[in-house]
Amino acid sequence: MKLAENKATLTYNNGASSIDLPVYQGNIGPDVIDIRKLYAQTGMFTYDPGFLSTASCQSSITYIDGDKGELLYRGYPIEQLATNCDFLETCHLLLYGDLPDAAGKIEFSERVTHHTMVHEQMQFFLRGFRRDAHPMAILTGLVGALSAFYHDSTDINNPAHRDISAIRLIAKMPTLVAMAYKYNAGQPYMYPKNNLSYAGNFLHMMFATPCEEYVVNPVIERALDRILVLHADHEQNASTSTVRLCGSSGTNPFAAIAAGVACLWGPAHGGANEACLNMLEGIMKNGGIETVGEFMEQVKDKNSGVKLMGFGHRVYKNYDPRAKLMQETCKEVLAELGLENDPLFKLAMALEKIALEDDYFVSRKLYPNVDFYSGIVQRAIGIPVELFTAVFASARTVGWMAQLNEMISDPEYKIGRPRQLFTGETRRDVPPMSDR
Ligand code: ACO
Repeated sequence: MKLAENKATLTYNNGASSIDLPVYQGNIGPDVIDIRKLYAQTGMFTYDPGFLSTASCQSSITYIDGDKGELLYRGYPIEQLATNCDFLETCHLLLYGDLPDAAGKIEFSERVTHHTMVHEQMQFFLRGFRRDAHPMAILTGLVGALSAFYHDSTDINNPAHRDISAIRLIAKMPTLVAMAYKYNAGQPYMYPKNNLSYAGNFLHMMFATPCEEYVVNPVIERALDRILVLHADHEQNASTSTVRLCGSSGTNPFAAIAAGVACLWGPAHGGANEACLNMLEGIMKNGGIETVGEFMEQVKDKNSGVKLMGFGHRVYKNYDPRAKLMQETCKEVLAELGLENDPLFKLAMALEKIALEDDYFVSRKLYPNVDFYSGIVQRAIGIPVELFTAVFASARTVGWMAQLNEMISDPEYKIGRPRQLFTGETRRDVPPMSDR
């Protein structure tokens, strides 16, 4: 980060002397005012719940221009990556800073492929869950439990430990997600197959059974791969910030990623794809496409508590570029499966059209986000709704690990410890029981 020529000056209207604060410039995006010494100099904190104006770190991984609707991984536009690269190339890019060459791609794929099996003991751990447990509850537990299986890679300060943990996590996440699915379905777990692509193997572990040969459909394989590429990283979102904060205490990488999985689960974040599909199915049950106008009136009524799930974003104030790519994939998958007239897709298109023309959404710059169409694609592929967020977690694991690596390698890194504005009771004495 580069020190800007200008400084920010903080002045008070009570006669206290003003102070100068350094300003830093990134390569693109807004400058930042460095307030690290503010408390030491003034005895005051800044107040920014929800981090509306606070950069929590410097990062060189992912850049979003929310006004333009642009997303870059290590400088490459998401549209080019989604069209020209597969998920493992994207993982290499995010983790190591650049796309692999042909030999590097083979080597990286082989490393990941040879770590896809999980310890046999893991299935006994999984058996402790109820069969109807939510896959994200299972995944939070299983990922955290990995720290009990890989004692040789739990030192977050050791780059080699972090590297092998990243490979293990990227490799094993689909295996764990598929195991959670099979456990719920009451079907036998399918071991990974090394001759398949990352996405192909994911589909195989989910949908194959030992009874017959499973042939991977290349259109579905590409669609799943694209879902993974589009969800691989998204700078300092809630789950990534959770991973960073959790990792900043020096905990092991598996524990930090488990914290990210837990955060991603929420409907305002990764759980939005599940919430979006439930919303679409709810509209279909309650009268179908003819009732979208009525539904939109509820969305616009602040007292109803109804939101248009899959719409809006803290950073994008324009069309989420991932939503465009996901809509394209959605059309491809539905055509391949003969579902062009899928009522949920038609409903989603109708809602999108109304929202893009309605002043409520236009004035608030609310556009479809990636989750608006990803649920429809996943449902068409045959992935059950409650598993959507777990698929997202598989994709985001690489981003979380890349961000964790970056944080630990940053010489300015410290344990994350926000401060507060205290509004509770001031000091008082505990009354005797008879007076309470
Ligand atoms: N439906 C209806 N109104 C909305 C929606 C929505 N989906 N999203 C935002 N708004 C309204 C808010 O009520 C608010 O209105 P107001 O200014 O009149 O009070 C205004 O738009 C601004 O919204 P905020 O909630 O302040 O924006 P914030 O940045 O805090 O929230 C969020 C962003 C959480 C994503 C929100 O848009 C939302 O809940 N969307 C639905 C859930 C969703 O799709 N989440 C996925 C995000 S992408 C991801 O994690 C992969």
